[in-house]
Amino acid sequence: MQIDILTIFPDYFREAFDYGIIRRARAASLVEIKAHDLRSWTSDKHKMVDDRPFGGGDGMVLKPEPIFAAVESLTGAKRGADVPSNKRVVLLSPQGKQFTQSTAAEFAQSEQLVLVCGRYEGVDERVAEALVTDEVSIGDYVLSGGEPAALVVIDAVVRLIPGALGSETSATTESFSEGLLDYPHYTRPPDFEGLKVPEVLLTGHHAEIAKWRSKAAEEKTKKNRPDLLKE
Ligand code: ADE
Repeated sequence: MQIDILTIFPDYFREAFDYGIIRRARAASLVEIKAHDLRSWTSDKHKMVDDRPFGGGDGMVLKPEPIFAAVESLTGAKRGADVPSNKRVVLLSPQGKQFTQSTAAEFAQSEQLVLVCGRYEGVDERVAEALVTDEVSIGDYVLSGGEPAALVVIDAVVRLIPGALGSETSATTESFSEGLLDYPHYTRPPDFEGLKVPEVLLTGHHAEIAKWRSKAAEEKTKKNRPDLLKE
């Protein structure tokens, strides 16, 4: 998979992909990740990427021209409608659809993912209307730019690329894969200052352990994320 990030802060990503699973996936050539400076696609002397909003109001808006030019040069497509089905062009914005584990699984199927990081007060709406295939938000809060959201999306996607995780099964047993949160995990010591590991986990009785884990996952979900049970 090829991942291209469009940003006015390419240095933000300098070491971000040098750790853990992402570093291993890059070393194994499962994914190549590049951060591109949006200013390279400006054509004016001052390399302007933003301008004042029509209709007035605070702040600046990212201009469409450099973003359209960048996406065309990276994907070969001029418009979202022309982007081939093995590629996704994604705008990170608080106005986007909620990014979930199933979005991550969908994105993990593509051969190229272009992530457009918004900034300032916003991005010219023609980018969302005509250029991208997806507009996603990582949650109901406003970040000062799409860069941290791009990191979140990349992390969630790369670990789902076949071969990226040590064990092929680990992604199917974790939180959200069954519509529930993950079951609780424990390691040694069995008694830490009076805080005990549930007895059943020490028995080696696999059927009982599986039963306990599925019940514990359900209880944890009921307590922390009752909204998931409704779905
Ligand atoms: N940019 C600013 N806030 C964001 C959010 N919540 N998700 C994705 N991109 C963003």
